[in-house]
Amino acid sequence: MCKVIGIINQKGGVAKTSTCRNLATVLKDEGYKVLVVDCDNQASLTDCFGIEDPDELEISLYDLMMTVILEKDDLPSKEKCIITKENVDVIPANTLLSDIDINLVSAMSREYVLKTIIEEIKEDYDYVLLDSMPSLGLMTLNVLACSDTVLIPVTPEYLSAKGLELLLKTIFKIKKRINKNIGFEGILLTMFDERTNLSREIENMIRESYGMHIKVFDTRIPRSVKVGEANARSKSIVEYMPNNKAAIGYKNFTSELLSTGSDSYERGN
Ligand SMILES: Nc1ncnc2c1ncn2[C@@H]1O[C@H](COP(=O)(O)OP(=O)(O)OP(=O)(O)O)[C@@H](O)[C@H]1O
Ligand SMILES: [Mg+2]
Repeated sequence: MCKVIGIINQKGGVAKTSTCRNLATVLKDEGYKVLVVDCDNQASLTDCFGIEDPDELEISLYDLMMTVILEKDDLPSKEKCIITKENVDVIPANTLLSDIDINLVSAMSREYVLKTIIEEIKEDYDYVLLDSMPSLGLMTLNVLACSDTVLIPVTPEYLSAKGLELLLKTIFKIKKRINKNIGFEGILLTMFDERTNLSREIENMIRESYGMHIKVFDTRIPRSVKVGEANARSKSIVEYMPNNKAAIGYKNFTSELLSTGSDSYERGN
């Protein structure tokens, strides 16, 4: 059965996209069928998969969502809207997606537009990974509405940890009103620097504050400049430098994700 994982944090630059890119690659290497969906108008994930000139694409996520919003014809065929890169299927984004929140405001069942699309295609996959934008606007609510679980990358910084409170409140609201089955995949510490006190302090704070209720992955993704280098070359770090500490981090994280299964909100309550 397919699992849809929303990779979410309204804080920018916490490695949502890098996590999506690398998790997709490791899952694919493990033999799973993976679809990634770029739900961010910055189109970073699209870029990380080496899809050039996204603004020139005939069909991007924006077009699929507008087809649903305008209640037009059927969605285009899979061949038209999915690009396969290194055996991972990608629904790309481009700058058009900046307009999606405005179009969603007056749409019927506006929180469920993305879900309509994902429901139609997810049966072909073991995992669908949704890379979200750094905001809690309508597009991100759409991501939450169709996710089975939420994966939250967090950097070991004070403001990043503080932002978790707002995010969790939002997810609880979603669970009450929009997607009662949503669960937590967990919180993943990214760009972790073992040598700094702050990294360790924030890790302890997150584990103490949230660990009772939400899985906090044992694996932390170490900080490495090579991740940025890999992104710039449209590669995952696991392919670009398999022995790099962040690459090993992403492989261990994926094993942990596969071995533990997701938590429900009820855990510890
Ligand atoms: N483990 C890491 N070590 C060092 N740099 C990293 C690591 N992971 C990601 N980065 C870098 O940090 C920056 C932000 O990463 P990324 O784009 O994945 O974050 P994001 O949460 O998706 O950002 P946004 O909120 O803008 O979508 C990028 O320049 C990326 O190359
Ligand atoms: Mg991103």
